[in-house]
Amino acid sequence: MISATRDRSVRVAQAAVILSVLLVGIFAQTHARVKGSATSSKEFTSLPQLMKDGIHEQFTFLSFTIWHDSPLTKQKLNSVAKSASLLQELAVRIPTYKASYFSKYRGEDLALVDAVSAEMETLALSLSHAAANGDEKSLEPLLTQLEEKCNSCHSKFKQELSIQNVEPTQLKK
Ligand code: HEC
Repeated sequence: MISATRDRSVRVAQAAVILSVLLVGIFAQTHARVKGSATSSKEFTSLPQLMKDGIHEQFTFLSFTIWHDSPLTKQKLNSVAKSASLLQELAVRIPTYKASYFSKYRGEDLALVDAVSAEMETLALSLSHAAANGDEKSLEPLLTQLEEKCNSCHSKFKQELSIQNVEPTQLKK
């Protein structure tokens, strides 16, 4: 009787150990995925989500680092290069929402979505290359041009954002 009870508690303890090992494994895996190039493989269920959880995140990092975090070390330049390249991949996704988010728009407006997204993509790529090559002088002008792309799309499709959100940060006193 006693030994049966002990057997049982040993089994329960073993199960608990196995379970916690599994949980740690799952947690570590999830964590690794979040820390890695998560953004590039992340699915966004809608355009606002792509903006909020993808594009905004990268842009905030870039503007903080380029405008407010000098001097730029080699390590920071590498992070800028990586973030800008993620932003480029995210820009490619904007036009995929033409059939959903932008479905109420027609011809010219949809062409604007394509054009501005493509320009954003090109600028993000240039920014990534400039950072990777240590071309510090080009970073601010490129980021300003990039921000103008956010603005030109928002002022067409989401008026209130173009004023509040994407005012050039460096003009703030
Ligand atoms: C081609 C169009 C387009 C471009 C380019 C674009 N956006 Fe947007 N963005 C939108 C639209 C449309 C919305 C409004 C979504 C909604 O209805 O909530 C939006 C919303 C947002 C939001 C608000 C998200 C939320 O719901 O909280 C942020 C933040 C944002 N954009 C950041 C940016 C930044 C930063 C850039 C440039 C690096 C950028 N966007 C470029 C179209 C664009």
